[in-house]
Amino acid sequence: MVDGPTVHLEISHVLKLRNHDRGVLKLSDRLPTEASAGSASVSAMPATVVLGAQWGDEGKGRVVDVFAEHADFVVRYQGGNNAGHTIIVGNQKLALSLIPSGILYPNCIPVIASGTVVDPKVLLAEMDMAAAKSLDPSRVRLSANAHLIMPWHRKLDAVKERYLGRNQIGTTRKGIGPAYTDKYARTGIRVQDLFDPKIFTSKVQTALEDVNRILPRVYNTLPMAGEEIVDEYLGYAERLEPHVTDTSLLLWEGLREGKQVLFEGAQGTLLDVDHGTYPFVTSSNPTAGGALVGSGIGPKAIDEIIGVAKAYISRVGTGPFPTELHDEIGDKMIELGGEYGTVTGRRRRCGWLDLVALRYAVRINTFTRLFLTKLDILSAFDTIRVAVAYRYEGETFTEFPRQQRVLYECEPVYEDLPGWRTDISGARSFDELPPEARAYVEFIQESAGVPIGWVSVGPERSQMFEVS
Ligand code: GDP
Ligand code: IMO
Ligand code: MG
Repeated sequence: MVDGPTVHLEISHVLKLRNHDRGVLKLSDRLPTEASAGSASVSAMPATVVLGAQWGDEGKGRVVDVFAEHADFVVRYQGGNNAGHTIIVGNQKLALSLIPSGILYPNCIPVIASGTVVDPKVLLAEMDMAAAKSLDPSRVRLSANAHLIMPWHRKLDAVKERYLGRNQIGTTRKGIGPAYTDKYARTGIRVQDLFDPKIFTSKVQTALEDVNRILPRVYNTLPMAGEEIVDEYLGYAERLEPHVTDTSLLLWEGLREGKQVLFEGAQGTLLDVDHGTYPFVTSSNPTAGGALVGSGIGPKAIDEIIGVAKAYISRVGTGPFPTELHDEIGDKMIELGGEYGTVTGRRRRCGWLDLVALRYAVRINTFTRLFLTKLDILSAFDTIRVAVAYRYEGETFTEFPRQQRVLYECEPVYEDLPGWRTDISGARSFDELPPEARAYVEFIQESAGVPIGWVSVGPERSQMFEVS
């Protein structure tokens, strides 16, 4: 078990607030933590979703890790090993791509649900990595309905990107898009197929008939050999078998018993295939609705939806980014924030917080509260800018624009707030923040229209506090 300081964060507090008015909660009106923290016994369906409010890498892994202390299940509902969730505990760093962050708590069951796409080799390697860190991977549960990422998905991802040239999406090249393409074309191969060698072999052969026509003719690359792939994948079946189950039923039973379920989004709202900056998105639904479809539970099971937002914003890969900074301030955010991709090592593009996009994320997901991360990184700046609207061809947009061109060509309308220029990484309560930092948090809260529940001021478990 990775050890280190733990933060006693009452998730029951989250649950208890469910019937309260969810209008803008002024920080000065915030509920005292002691008074509102109570028993974790909630009679039915205490499920909470934690997901990214921006373009990913908001700090979801560290947030879920903190909440997971009180969860019975932590569930990944979409995406695959394109995700990179970093958790820091003491002097140990854990980077997870598929296994949900609940793996760090021995009583928590990490669930990889049916909406995910799973590269079995990566999953097994991650389980080995967890075991090497004295974590127990035997608890991991994998949906029999999750789709497999096959070698041709990785290959197609890479060659398609190469052929797109300067129009490329900048994918992680993990085969995510092609795996979801096959899923929706109804030609995908699912985890359960691994346990029926005849069907598995026939599905691989059928898929390769198509793939091997395309690879040489369209992408000028070598065809792939089916036998090797079948041998490799059937070789994974034995190790995966004890983990495979009906995860929808598992969660349903848990919810009925009053167990606490935490859904861990990967990527972020603006990378959602339906609601993000298409086509510069991932191929799944990280948004709150995706948690339901991707895990096979109904909407009434969800109690809280927590949006994780960085105090500034970043994006990896291509696509529009109105507040992107191409100057030394952006460079400073990247360096101080360690903004390099966990999966690909790519330098993340950085910019000022975009409140138009944040309000959009609040709307799409019906966030009940926000978790604001990396406030400490902004300590380096004299003035903190926040985009409150976009201006394009004489028009001012306060709502996320319908036409993507606006996102490319608009001028953000900034509000300038004074910086605090002092180290806040040791703050453990809202009141310990300098007034300028408090004003910044309050400004975001007012504009977003939902309470900021928590703020973090460093990557470690203890470097955060509850606000409201
Ligand atoms: P995720 O994909 O949303 O889980 O985020 P990543 O793990 O890819 O990126 C977030 C990075 O920021 C990780 O390296 C975290 O350790 C780090 N981090 C998270 N919260 C904070 C914070 O409040 N302050 C600082 N300085 N780093 C943080
Ligand atoms: P976490 O969970 C940031 C981006 C890629 C690319 C686009 C499509 O760590 O926040 P894909 O491989 O999914 O087809 O790539 O989505 N992307 C992410 N960006 N964080 C992630 O995950 C991402 N997962 C995918 O960079 O622009
Ligand atoms: Mg990440």
